[in-house]
Amino acid sequence: MLRSKYLIRRFFYTLSNYGISATLKKIYKTCFYSNKIDLDKLNIPNNLGLDDLFLKFGTDKGSLDGKKTYDFLEKNKDGEKKFKSYYEWINRNNPRNFEYQFGLNFTPYYEKYLGPLRDKSLKILEIGVANGHSVASWFYYFPNSEIHAVDIKKKHKFLYKGKRINYHSLDCLDNVAVRKFITKNNNFDIIIDDSFHEQPAITNNIKNFYPTLNPGGIYVLEDFNTADHILKIERKYNEDSGKKLMHRWSILTSEIFDYIKNKKMFKHEIFKEDDLKYIFDTIDRVEVHDLELEHPWASLGFLFKKKN
Ligand SMILES: C[S@@+](CC[C@H](N)C(=O)[O-])C[C@H]1O[C@@H](n2cnc3c(N)ncnc32)[C@H](O)[C@@H]1O
Repeated sequence: MLRSKYLIRRFFYTLSNYGISATLKKIYKTCFYSNKIDLDKLNIPNNLGLDDLFLKFGTDKGSLDGKKTYDFLEKNKDGEKKFKSYYEWINRNNPRNFEYQFGLNFTPYYEKYLGPLRDKSLKILEIGVANGHSVASWFYYFPNSEIHAVDIKKKHKFLYKGKRINYHSLDCLDNVAVRKFITKNNNFDIIIDDSFHEQPAITNNIKNFYPTLNPGGIYVLEDFNTADHILKIERKYNEDSGKKLMHRWSILTSEIFDYIKNKKMFKHEIFKEDDLKYIFDTIDRVEVHDLELEHPWASLGFLFKKKN
């Protein structure tokens, strides 16, 4: 149902923007060829660094945000977009030749912690991949790894394909579906959570996915300080009037990282005592980077699992 609605919308969009002949060509291509961008066949220079890859494919993880620039790129004087498709955009000659808004600037942190693992043969999972721009970047950054991409969105929203890429349409808050996914796809070396940046998704994902990390694996949580920001304001507002917050998600994610770092038990709706014991027994170290000074909602938390 969703897919047909999407196709009908695409049909009228293409017809009104590009005319009947381009529309028929597109229908032909969609029916007889996969319309996904094949990463095994793209001609990406192999000297691109991680930040260049982030910019080229347009995730906001890099210092600049390529995707939004593509979305809002001006039309030329004939009313046509400068780039007719994402495929053309990715192949733009000079990726830095546009006016970009700032990205989250995670590159130095990813290079520091994940860079040494670049050439290994790993199993990587990203939860929350949208149209796949970060997955495409990881595909080139980790040339020997298998990448699993999870999103609540249906597969047709994911723009890419590749021999080392597996897309899974999954709601990470649906614990039954997550169990099934994990039984089938265990275990990972790197897990990146860029999905729903709020409680309870943040903790639910750590509870479900951290145990699926191999020894020596790394769990990364992005952008948790947006939710922390709001909670801090709410806390202060109440405290200033001598009140205490009573709702279920009143622990900051940064506090949860501190509890884990110090192996200190805490009461939580999602983490039960056994979950926390497992984390405390297997955690090697925790690194938290609040990057608010660089970007209003940039933050990164890394959980490093013991090697054995
Ligand atoms: C910030 S975007 C991901 C961006 C992508 N990682 C990138 O760098 O280009 C967040 C994604 O999380 C997905 N998401 C939100 N809630 C989810 C859920 N409950 N389960 C799985 N994915 C979810 C959204 O559909 C969205 O595509």
